Amino acid sequence: MIAVTSGKGGVGKSTLTANLAVALAARGLSVGLVDADVHGFSVPALLGLVDEHGTAARPTRVDDMILPPVAHGVKVISIGMFVEPTEPGGRGSSVAVAWRGPMLHRTLQQFLTDVYFGDLDVLLVDLPPGTGDVAISLGQLLPNAEVLVVTTPQPAAADVAERSGLVARQTGQTVIGVVENMAGLAQPDGSLLDLFGSGGGDEVARRLSEGVDEPVPVVASVPLSVALRRGGDDGMPVVLAEPDDPAARAIEQAAAFLAGRPRSLAGRHLDVSVR
Ligand SMILES: Nc1ncnc2c1ncn2[C@@H]1O[C@H](COP(=O)(O)OP(=O)(O)OP(=O)(O)O)[C@@H](O)[C@H]1O
Ligand SMILES: [Mg+2]
Repeated sequence: MIAVTSGKGGVGKSTLTANLAVALAARGLSVGLVDADVHGFSVPALLGLVDEHGTAARPTRVDDMILPPVAHGVKVISIGMFVEPTEPGGRGSSVAVAWRGPMLHRTLQQFLTDVYFGDLDVLLVDLPPGTGDVAISLGQLLPNAEVLVVTTPQPAAADVAERSGLVARQTGQTVIGVVENMAGLAQPDGSLLDLFGSGGGDEVARRLSEGVDEPVPVVASVPLSVALRRGGDDGMPVVLAEPDDPAARAIEQAAAFLAGRPRSLAGRHLDVSVR
């Protein structure tokens, strides 16, 4: 179980999570993805699980179990698959979910208990930005989860990103790595445009390594990439669509790190504690 978190919004959590899931599935692992961003769900569109109106695929119900739709080899569940479009033919993704903490908690709990993922090697969880209700609920529901912290290279973003890692730790979760996203963009003349500065990933990793036994590494630095953004818009993740793109290669590096973790989850039951 790997939760992808960040302090700030819009740093690329969902895009990276979708790509990591697909990259791990392409390596032959059995992969599930829970979109825990109930208010701001985006995973169905990123994985191409929406029709031309933007309405997400529906899960299949079998008695009390929910069978998740599969995209690019990844079993996916998102609140976007349950909300009704505001009007017939309307865009499903335009529906707003206005729920407070207890409903969010209940939804996450259902995603983790009632959805039939089968035997998974990896369950990725895409979190909403910040350290609010959902992050805390997830910490309670999955105290054994491992956490990837996403940050931009901007030094100012490091503070917030560090906090999201610290909150995860407070609930007993283990921070296993930092992914820096939106790093330097290669220019036609070969130079690098550091649109969002540099050093944020290393800084977050350094701070989260203080006072713990195992240092927290930067597992990848993913550059700004038109292909990555386009892959998200098209529902065809860049790791499949343009695997030679520098961003795709950096994500592959992160996937290799995750796949090579010594504590494989294969054959172990997901330890979901329902409270
Ligand atoms: N490396 C990148 N290069 C170019 N565009 C990127 C990159 N990473 C993410 N983006 C774009 O940035 C936007 C935000 O990404 P995304 O939705 O994945 O962030 P998020 O952290 O999940 O946001 P939120 O906090 O709202 O959930 C998207 O439009 C995405 O296509
Ligand atoms: Mg997101």
